Amino acid sequence: MNSPWWVKRVYMENIAPAELKQWAELYCEIWKEPPWNEDFWKPEEVIKDFQTEMSNPDSAAFLLLVDGSVKGFTHGYSVNREELRAIANNDLLDTIFSEDKRIYYIDELGVAKECRGLGFGKLLTARLQSEALGMGIRKVVLRTDTQAKAARRVYEESDFIDLKVFDANYPNRTYWLCKA
Ligand SMILES: CC(C)(COP(=O)(O)OP(=O)(O)OC[C@H]1O[C@@H](n2cnc3c(N)ncnc32)[C@H](O)[C@@H]1OP(=O)(O)O)[C@@H](O)C(=O)NCCC(=O)NCCS
Repeated sequence: MNSPWWVKRVYMENIAPAELKQWAELYCEIWKEPPWNEDFWKPEEVIKDFQTEMSNPDSAAFLLLVDGSVKGFTHGYSVNREELRAIANNDLLDTIFSEDKRIYYIDELGVAKECRGLGFGKLLTARLQSEALGMGIRKVVLRTDTQAKAARRVYEESDFIDLKVFDANYPNRTYWLCKA
């Protein structure tokens, strides 16, 4: 990639309105793709969700900026056993907690089509893994679709293992775990 790029940790205080808008538009575009097929996201609603997420001190969001434009994003936060049950809609992940009170959950990852295959997906994932470690959390969990081939590759290469635990509401999505 010849264009200048960087990864920015975004907070309510440092995100520019144009970045928020581009992030929301990219988010809506990316989730329309198969296997997600989510064509219902609206930028205005997504922006409200981002603002709520960024105001949570326990969450972290990173944007990939290329030539000053948002071309990728990731977002995560820590969860306790009950919170992960609410995400997975079952209690099948209880056992991964063992002695851990909190585990880090990667909620979102997306890279614009024109910037894929350059390592940005892995880089953004690594940023959230470091964030978890910085909080003293050694386990990171996420959910992805069995047909999301690029995402699965990214997570395999980022030391995640498919637990083959299926979500109760999304029967094609399984949970993956990485232990630092
Ligand atoms: C998943 C996603 C973020 C990856 O972004 P990226 O910047 O291309 O990721 P990277 O370049 O770090 O790595 C991609 C890897 O997937 C591989 N890949 C891409 N398409 C693939 C396919 N169809 N089958 C198998 N592997 C594939 C690439 O070759 C690369 O692996 P390599 O480094 O061993 O060659 C991006 O494809 C995306 O936004 N997809 C749509 C949203 C999504 O699925 N998000 C994850 C939700 S859990």
